Amino acid sequence: MDPKKWIDINTESFQYSLDHFVIPDHYEDALSSVLIPHGVIMDRVEKLAKLIVQESTGPLVVCCVLKGGHQFFADLVNYIKKNVTRGGKTVPLSLEFIKVKSYSNETSGDVKLSLTEEECKEFSGKNILIVEDIIDTGKTMVQLLSKLKKYSPESVKVASLLVKKTPLSNGYIPDYVGFAIPNAFVVGYALDYNEYFRDLDHICVINEHGKEKYATKN
Ligand code: HPA
Ligand code: MG
Repeated sequence: MDPKKWIDINTESFQYSLDHFVIPDHYEDALSSVLIPHGVIMDRVEKLAKLIVQESTGPLVVCCVLKGGHQFFADLVNYIKKNVTRGGKTVPLSLEFIKVKSYSNETSGDVKLSLTEEECKEFSGKNILIVEDIIDTGKTMVQLLSKLKKYSPESVKVASLLVKKTPLSNGYIPDYVGFAIPNAFVVGYALDYNEYFRDLDHICVINEHGKEKYATKN
């Protein structure tokens, strides 16, 4: 992995104590540390927005992968807009939202998209930027890309805020990456654990108590 393309975070070297940041009371006992403070996320998203505009070759269809990608998507689009008001290069944006369901237990490893056939046909000839929260194994993204390419877009690029350094990775690396993170389960900034923690600004590492407290109850 090219270390110049993203910020590499090593758990071993440093994690912030929860005491040093404002954490909602309801999550305080469920987290072990702050991995990426909200301000650092925002500064990094601003830089990614700048790179995306600089390297764009025409109007962009910015495609948010729900639900985890929504916060990164919203802030990224805002920074792309700000780039305009600062007199930088401009690029027209249209926005699309997509839910991806993966069936990882099936050998085909197929993914199902929430968009209709008609909506997918709209991608033909367009420059698409997929915005995702995290690449973990890379399986879902590889399948999503192969599915989208069937609709003959002009180009497809991927921006992921996080890439997890896991031995289960299939080697897929997005075009734009915010941070490479350790192989731990992270939450916050719209990343969830069983739908919780999306309402947390910092990206944090969940602890064992948190996993029990917010486990799915059947
Ligand atoms: N956190 C939240 N969602 C995820 C993660 C994670 O660490 N990995 C894959 N999906
Ligand atoms: Mg996700």
